[in-house]
Amino acid sequence: MPSFTALLVDEAATLALGQALAHILQPGLVLHLHGELGAGKTCLTRALLHAAGYVGRVKSPTYTLMEPYTISLKGQSIALLHFDLYRMGNPREFIEAGFRDQLDGSAICIIEWPEQAANLLPPPDLDLTLTVTGNSREVELLAKSEQGKACLHQLQFNPHH
Ligand SMILES: Nc1ncnc2c1ncn2[C@@H]1O[C@H](COP(=O)(O)OP(=O)(O)OP(=O)(O)O)[C@@H](O)[C@H]1O
Ligand SMILES: [Mg+2]
Repeated sequence: MPSFTALLVDEAATLALGQALAHILQPGLVLHLHGELGAGKTCLTRALLHAAGYVGRVKSPTYTLMEPYTISLKGQSIALLHFDLYRMGNPREFIEAGFRDQLDGSAICIIEWPEQAANLLPPPDLDLTLTVTGNSREVELLAKSEQGKACLHQLQFNPHH
């Protein structure tokens, strides 16, 4: 499976990657975001949502565990669910909150701290890891499915611009 790595020298580079990812979204795409606290997962998601046309505030789903959005993809209205499972005590909360019912196959899922719900989650099409290195970040993006591979193939991102 193909992969992609880059150095994100500053926050602007993380935002630019989020914007680039907005252009490769497809219905049903599942993106898992790995990385320590403050690595830039929410920052990236915020830029992605804004580049996907969402107007308004993008809050971190720290306490709500999930914030739902609607975006337009090629004229089609698509749900985009942004999860942050860091504070989820027990994986059962995921089911009890009704999240499984919202995963209808067309919703795009972006999941921070997917490790917290392991096998309850839809498997990722793309696995993205942010690693803090000094004042910068390294990013690794791995395709995990044929759909992820197709998306990654379309990614246009040059961290130096
Ligand atoms: N490439 C980068 N280089 C340096 N700083 C960055 C970079 N990208 C983002 N940041 C900074 O890192 C922080 C990222 O915070 P953010 O809330 O996005 O982290 P997070 O991964 O979502 O953390 P949490 O797990 O707590 O939700 C922000 O302060 C942002 O300015
Ligand atoms: Mg976050």
